[in-house]
Amino acid sequence: MRIIPPLYIITPTYRRPEQIAELTRLAQTLMHVQNVHWLVIEDAKEKTPHVTELLSRTGISFEHLLAPMPESYKLRKGSKPRGVSNRNRGLEWLRENATSGVFYFADDDNTYDIKIFEEMRSTEKVSMWPVGLCTKTGLSTPILKNGSFSGFFDGWIAGRKFPVDMAGFAVSVKFLLERPRAAMPYKPGFEEDGFLKSLAPFEPKQIEFKAQNCTKILVWHTQTRKNEPALAIDTAKYGNTNLIMLRQQIV
Ligand SMILES: *[C@@H]1O[C@H](CO)[C@@H](O)[C@H](O)[C@H]1NC(C)=O
Repeated sequence: MRIIPPLYIITPTYRRPEQIAELTRLAQTLMHVQNVHWLVIEDAKEKTPHVTELLSRTGISFEHLLAPMPESYKLRKGSKPRGVSNRNRGLEWLRENATSGVFYFADDDNTYDIKIFEEMRSTEKVSMWPVGLCTKTGLSTPILKNGSFSGFFDGWIAGRKFPVDMAGFAVSVKFLLERPRAAMPYKPGFEEDGFLKSLAPFEPKQIEFKAQNCTKILVWHTQTRKNEPALAIDTAKYGNTNLIMLRQQIV
């Protein structure tokens, strides 16, 4: 039997009303993927029990890790480097535990066609593919002209060497291990670029193009609207009902 290379899926997450809904959706996607090891990393000081319970129920091989954002970034005004401590924790776990295969940063609010996981599995160094965006630009993708690389299409280039979306690339574990200092910077908007640059030596001309030479959209950078937490249940009125157990499952 041919052994298929493992896929390490690094998912940063944090406690919010939609967390369990999003993780349920991603879990049920990953349940269709072979030889996957899911690193679910919470920006929290303690593991959320509902996350632990969900992970054990899926049957997916997983790690449930913690990586709170450093306090200095939390106090900072403006946009925060969300997910960076989580993803760096994922990279650290890979350095300690993985020797082969491919890893991918899969946020819990995106939408994944299961085909993308088979596309990325053959990554030798760094592979890329288009990401559908629900913005005016509509897309983030490498541009191919007559079969070869000719730049990047993204709504926000901002001087980045690699103006790509977090959901648009995968990296081989071996390639990472050969670069002991590779990490994601705490720099909002420049996380992908900074991480890919930290994989130097690595140039855009080395990118392996997936999804039929970047002609298919197999992943969407969707986003759930920010929601308010639910109100408490009136226990005087509903004390002896199923609502009490249900409310405990809602943030
Ligand atoms: C992608 O493009 C290259 C160069 O034109 C070509 O050799 C290859 O067959 C194409 N692959 C796919 C899957 O279309």
